[in-house]
Amino acid sequence: MTEQRKSIHGTWSSKWTFILAATGSAVGLGNIWKFPYMAGDNGGGAFVLVYLACIVVIGIPIMIGEIMIGRRGRSSPANTMRFLAAEANTTKAWTMLGATGALAGLLILSFYSVAAGWAMAYVFSGFQETSAQAVSGNFEEFLADPVSLIFWHSLFIVITVIIVARGILKGLEAWINTLMPMLFLIIILLCIYAMQTGAFMEGLVYLFKPDFTKINSDVLLAALGQAFFTLSLGMGAIMAYGAYMPANQNILKTAFVVAALDTGVALLAGIAIFPIVFANGLAPTEGPGLVFVTLPIAFGNMPFGVFFGTLFFILLSIAAISSSISLIEPGVAWFVESLKTKRSYAAITLGAFAWSIGVFSALSFNLMSDFKIFGMNFFEFTDFITNQIMLPLGGIFIAIFVGWVMKKQNVLEELQIKEGFIFNVWFFLLRFIAPVLVGLVLVYFFI
Ligand code: TRP
Repeated sequence: MTEQRKSIHGTWSSKWTFILAATGSAVGLGNIWKFPYMAGDNGGGAFVLVYLACIVVIGIPIMIGEIMIGRRGRSSPANTMRFLAAEANTTKAWTMLGATGALAGLLILSFYSVAAGWAMAYVFSGFQETSAQAVSGNFEEFLADPVSLIFWHSLFIVITVIIVARGILKGLEAWINTLMPMLFLIIILLCIYAMQTGAFMEGLVYLFKPDFTKINSDVLLAALGQAFFTLSLGMGAIMAYGAYMPANQNILKTAFVVAALDTGVALLAGIAIFPIVFANGLAPTEGPGLVFVTLPIAFGNMPFGVFFGTLFFILLSIAAISSSISLIEPGVAWFVESLKTKRSYAAITLGAFAWSIGVFSALSFNLMSDFKIFGMNFFEFTDFITNQIMLPLGGIFIAIFVGWVMKKQNVLEELQIKEGFIFNVWFFLLRFIAPVLVGLVLVYFFI
């Protein structure tokens, strides 16, 4: 075996840490905030089915490839791609994949931070209202106020920048270790609450009974984009984390564990939320506000609701931070390696960039609500371009790079497996199925 390159940023202290960090990146607003409203906007069960299929057939194979690239390159995604392209005797243009990925991460961070700001603001909301009307009214009032939206957005970026500036290998570990399981427990508690709303079955049917007539090109692309988003795939986040992965960790197993935990949290969030939607006469098509107009009703009505509600939004904010860190890390690591700047300068510069774009997303709910690009407001547009275009395209290129450009023997060596059934299935999915399916969905959407 050739000697492993070393990361100048260090490595995670154990295998368990990599799993925690990758799960911390994957589990976030994408699962609890985005998945339910995307399912609601796209017809429920049919969307969920396509989403699950995308996770298994496209997401997991690409995740394995992305982690593998990261660990082999042991650098920021841009430099990793440059190194691996050289190793495969091919064009340096592959560096662009890392660079555009880093940009996609900052663009995602710009609106992610606005929604994470809502979660932080809700920590202090008190959970006194019990009716759907009052809870929805509160949320609308909140969105109408540009000053609070920008305040919470700024606070979230500042926290992210501070953590990233100090170096993500420190500090993060202990937090995720205890807080993630706690978040999981509160979601279970919400599911139990949902069971006695009287609309539990209705919620389950909505979420799991596919109505195939609802599937069209919009739904396909939305589900595909959501699969990439929730697994943090396609822009180098998992690649950057892979660079810090211990050399002897099994990449295949790890990818399965991370994807399973991530999918589990999303489904449980849906199971908790839709019964509350139906029991209170709300519409599943509520959009990005869905979690914020449903869960406070549950907390308002349950015993110790103030305690659980506050704790829930604290944990959700932390889950968002452990995700946002991975959105900025590819850019920061790249700055540090290539421009030899300090981590803190890199984090502040890139954080400021994401912050300034995010301001427009915050304003798109109030002052700039009439400003539309292709019929979408600024928040929706940034979300669409990144999640439904940039991530799937990034995914295609990652799949092609691993499947067609890298030497097979290097792939096998890095994965530390022998060529056999499992490898062959994975390699087939990566070489043929993933790029073709993603390509078809994109083409179908545009024509
Ligand atoms: N997966 C995270 C979530 O679900 C968001 C996220 C973090 C992300 N890093 C990413 C999305 C990289 C896409 C790419 O909340």
